[in-house]
Amino acid sequence: MKKIMLLWIGLALALMACGHDEQPESKQPDTDSPTEETAESNENNSNQDSKDINQSEEPAPEEEEIGPQLVLASEDPDNIHILVNKTHFLPDDYVPADLVVPNVPFPFEEFAEKKQLRLEAATALEALFQASKKAGLDLVAASGYRSYERQAVIYQNNVEKNGKKHADKFSAQPGSSEHQTGLAMDVTSAEMAFALEQTFEQTDEGAWLADNAYKYGFVIRYPEGKEAITGYSYEPWHIRYVGKELAKELYTRSLTLEEYYDLQQK
Ligand code: DAL
Ligand code: ZN
Repeated sequence: MKKIMLLWIGLALALMACGHDEQPESKQPDTDSPTEETAESNENNSNQDSKDINQSEEPAPEEEEIGPQLVLASEDPDNIHILVNKTHFLPDDYVPADLVVPNVPFPFEEFAEKKQLRLEAATALEALFQASKKAGLDLVAASGYRSYERQAVIYQNNVEKNGKKHADKFSAQPGSSEHQTGLAMDVTSAEMAFALEQTFEQTDEGAWLADNAYKYGFVIRYPEGKEAITGYSYEPWHIRYVGKELAKELYTRSLTLEEYYDLQQK
């Protein structure tokens, strides 16, 4: 009888123990194992963290994708993204404040206004020339900054010599030349006898310039096939500093500055 009693008590205890085991199982999502809970909440936190990071980082790439918006020559002439062309004129009296002579070869020794570029563009030009030298090439800088007055003389001479229609394809009217920004340089070589001609494209220097200028923040500003957009004949020698980011964008998308800003405004 004692044995039977003990068996009943044992059975009852066993049943109670099973019931106790089940209970936490059903409660597990709320309060079970602190280790798992921590792990889960860590995972959630880490998800949350990565969401937070993504959320806080999201605007940055978007900003990069947007890129510079149209910069009006009349309003912000010191901006390196400035658009200067036949319809966007600089103020007549605009003279960049930070003109310097870049340390690159010129066809002549003495100082001249046209040897100058703005400091940032001059530094970039030096890097570009150093890289071209490493590639075994001999680029020569021919003409950089031009004052409004100097551009007026060049344009007028061209009109008198070739007529207005022809001149307008090659020379900017005063106030509408990128050379007045101090961000443009005409580049040539000894092989070209320092001339600015379209055959420059076929020389090693011209071909290298077309493929590599963007790496230093420059673009070939008046490309072949875009004459109707830029308003100028193809000028494989005229490079314009816009900064590395925008130069790469224009180069990889084969866009002129006009096309780029048109797309930006859509
Ligand atoms: N040759 C370019 C268009 C200038 O005169 O500025
Ligand atoms: Zn030029």
